[in-house]
Amino acid sequence: MISEKLQKARDFEAQYQKYADEERPLFHVTGGIGWINDPNGFSVYKGEYHLFFQYHPYDTVWGPMHWGHVKTKDFIKWERLPVALAPDAEADRNGCFSGSALELPDGRQLLMYTGVYHVRRTDGIREEFQHQCLAIGDGIDYEKYEDNPVLDASDIPDDASPLDFRDPKIWYDEEENMYYVVVGNRAADGSGSILLFESSDAFHWNFVSVLDACYNDYGRMWECPDFFPLDGKQVLITSPQEMKPVGLEFHAGYGTVALLGSYDKESRRFTRKHVQAIDYGIDFYAPQTLLAPDGRRIMIAWMQNWTTTGCKKQNCRIMGSMTLPRELTIKNNRLIQNPVRELANYHGRKVFYENVLINKEVNLNGIRGRHIDMTVDIRPVDDRSLYSWFKLNLAKDGEHCAVIRYKPNCNTVRIDRTRCGSSFDIVHVRDFLVRPSGGKIRLRVVMDGNSVEIFVNDGEQAATFLLYLDDLRADCISFETEGGSVFMDIEKYDIVID
Ligand code: FRU
Repeated sequence: MISEKLQKARDFEAQYQKYADEERPLFHVTGGIGWINDPNGFSVYKGEYHLFFQYHPYDTVWGPMHWGHVKTKDFIKWERLPVALAPDAEADRNGCFSGSALELPDGRQLLMYTGVYHVRRTDGIREEFQHQCLAIGDGIDYEKYEDNPVLDASDIPDDASPLDFRDPKIWYDEEENMYYVVVGNRAADGSGSILLFESSDAFHWNFVSVLDACYNDYGRMWECPDFFPLDGKQVLITSPQEMKPVGLEFHAGYGTVALLGSYDKESRRFTRKHVQAIDYGIDFYAPQTLLAPDGRRIMIAWMQNWTTTGCKKQNCRIMGSMTLPRELTIKNNRLIQNPVRELANYHGRKVFYENVLINKEVNLNGIRGRHIDMTVDIRPVDDRSLYSWFKLNLAKDGEHCAVIRYKPNCNTVRIDRTRCGSSFDIVHVRDFLVRPSGGKIRLRVVMDGNSVEIFVNDGEQAATFLLYLDDLRADCISFETEGGSVFMDIEKYDIVID
């Protein structure tokens, strides 16, 4: 049964989404119309990849949360599907917050999400309660489960919070024939913790353990957890609120962290050994992964940051998009990210140069564009003299320029979008550390209109940021050094989506 609220959202989307087409990037997911945030339910269903997302179709600001819906066969070309969930039930009357999805053995698709409801206290304060709900469907239409919520305050430890209890990420463990879910929570010290629950049928759940907790070390509330094995390690990812900066690793505000360690299935204990930021750019939050049938662990994230969402063009019709899905691996105890390999199927014209000497600002024939996949390899001309910096200038015209600068002496890369169309006084510059390499570096840059995603040294670091340029004419690219020269190889493809 489609509720009036859901039908209204579907009709609204159908009526207005075409007007937003001119604002859309080529190959990154956007909402039909209005606002989107976190990716939800990123999963495989009947051989296709489904992605849902936090959605408020009626405005370009956050509001009562629905779930929007798209699917794809290759992570690049997406098909829009009707709105999947509206906040139309008692258990989610104030919002269907983030969650996840899987295919049940009987062929139905299960969505697990956070239902939100508000309660007015006698002293006038409004409190928001969060609990976990289910919806079951066929890949297009979903029925809310009659016994929602399936996890609420009565299922969590005494010192856990029923107010901050959200973002369930569900999976099925084949060996154990059990379903598991991790949910973000806030412990007694006010900082984040990740709760683990289990179920034999995905409908009836029991608390298992506190998998890990923040102890005020990495931000406060831990949102949007995900938990999976990868290359012999166990990975817990989460998006902390209220992070404090630590060197160049973590910046203030909304961050993302990957905790790498081991998981003992017997005791259900996760032992954390390494902690790192996931993305070192500006616009990246709430990542979620899926396991593809070919064994790849693929991650997608909201290409935004809560602190900058007010900084948008007047009268825009859509606000928010997703990152390019990224393949994850682990190397030398680091999470490695690279664009999904399917991107290569959309490579258009190739432009290739080898051993280009860069000792001043250089433009190269055929190297320009705003929808590109470009890899640049830099090496010093000789071992004795290290250059001061190398710059890759993107989206250039007389006035604008996005800069990626590598400083070999400090082992840092800087992204700088100060001159990229924004008139807001927000973060435009960020530095991050890369592996020392005697001045050699590989930078892969994927641009899609107003987004830039950088992958350093085959994905050892990733950095994502948005530009605020009005049109695509700012498309020049140049290369520059100071204090020495480099040799550069470059391979550049236009991305062409038919
Ligand atoms: C993260 C988040 C989630 C929540 C959702 C609400 O960006 O705050 O914790 O479920 O957004 O839209």
